[in-house]
Amino acid sequence: MPEHEIMSKKLYIETYGCQMNFSDSEIVASVMTENDYEITPETGEADVVFLNTCSIREHAEQKVLNRLRELQHLRNARPGMLIGVLGCMAERLKAALLEDEKLGMRIDMVVGPDAYRSLPRLMTDAETGQKAINVILSADETYADISPVRYAAGGVSAFLSIMRGCGNFCAYCVVPYTRGQERSRDPNSIVSETRQLAAAGYRELTLLGQNVNSYRWEVPGSGRIMGFSELLPVVARTDPRMRVRFATSHPKDISDKLLHAMAEYPNVCNAIHLPVQSGSSEILKRMNRKYTRADYLGRVEAIRRIIPGCAISTDLIAGFCGETEADHQATLSLMEEVGFDFAFMFKYSERPDTLAARKFADDVDPATKSRRLQEIIALQQRLSLRSNEADVGKTLEVLVEGPSKRSGAHMMGRTSHNKVVVFPGQAYKPGDYAGVHITSCSSATLKGNPISQ
Ligand code: 5AD
Ligand code: SF4
Repeated sequence: MPEHEIMSKKLYIETYGCQMNFSDSEIVASVMTENDYEITPETGEADVVFLNTCSIREHAEQKVLNRLRELQHLRNARPGMLIGVLGCMAERLKAALLEDEKLGMRIDMVVGPDAYRSLPRLMTDAETGQKAINVILSADETYADISPVRYAAGGVSAFLSIMRGCGNFCAYCVVPYTRGQERSRDPNSIVSETRQLAAAGYRELTLLGQNVNSYRWEVPGSGRIMGFSELLPVVARTDPRMRVRFATSHPKDISDKLLHAMAEYPNVCNAIHLPVQSGSSEILKRMNRKYTRADYLGRVEAIRRIIPGCAISTDLIAGFCGETEADHQATLSLMEEVGFDFAFMFKYSERPDTLAARKFADDVDPATKSRRLQEIIALQQRLSLRSNEADVGKTLEVLVEGPSKRSGAHMMGRTSHNKVVVFPGQAYKPGDYAGVHITSCSSATLKGNPISQ
């Protein structure tokens, strides 16, 4: 056995939060495996455990803190095991995470989202008993030259980050503080990674960024600017068999040009995730979203006109500062008017130091927030069911991802609209496209039978 294999140590990575974070964990895996670490799926055999964390809501941070407490017990059984906090919580809480006594536990490493290149040096510090911290945010780090190790991907669908950070400063949001300023990645590195993924058999690619449609690359020497509506066709042309998706889009800059580019390429999926957050223009203004209810509905109209049948999903926040019953009703009526196919729905959670925390009182009482969220969820369930029922009787193209969780004899995959389809699929393997005749549905899943090939 070569010496480095005997020496290699085991790293376990657990990821919380958004797809960006999952994509970042693949960068971390790449940096670490280049430095003699091996990824393990078992915490029990790990020499190092990294939690790649999320700060978006208080609940997300609580989950990580609870997990860190559990890990301290594991460490009792494995003395010498190192624990690192990576990502947004590392950035937000910084050195406070290294204060053992205040925290009631020991964390060895604190590493912000722009500091993953420094992991090998930080590991050396941590291994010699020193606390290791790097939370410096960068104006230009995109990890463009680091080839992610897709250690948990099923080999069919991959994430590829095209930009980092966020400059929107929505009043409720911690991201501009934890992920720093917006910067875009060199399109050449995006295309070459797309080619590698296609060659490795991947069939679906999701281009990621906090705000993908403000992608902006200045072509060196020419002064020409490449925007997302120019990048998307370049990626889509790389391999017509590769489905392309993207997330997340900000309503203020989803241009007709981008919608036309989506319509032109059959492998660009007909699905747009377009977080609205609230249906009330008053609340949107306080959220610093930079669009009104009418602006949003105008963009939905453009989507329907340019890409007929396109699925639209969204994010919604219940109980933002100053939200009245009328504002809440406006959210419900907007949901009805758009008929969202899917939504992520949240209660407002104040994040320290954001614009909202500094300027407004978190004044919707918890019971009202919960009730409003429940009403939003109940309505969305009806809308999702209605959207799925409209597919019953159709034959849809499904990209097969793998066996269904419920039954080994069934396969699961997704439609271009990103809906989950379960069907009897012994004849199919992950990465195949199947034509599936939809026979029934719930609000979450479509069921059907494959048509003979
Ligand atoms: N409280 C509740 N939800 C939030 N989101 C972002 N910040 C907060 C917060 N402070 C939601 C938004 C965003 C999604 C990723 O998380 O809906 O689009
Ligand atoms: Fe969570 Fe936002 Fe950070 Fe993603 S960018 S991990 S959602 S706080």
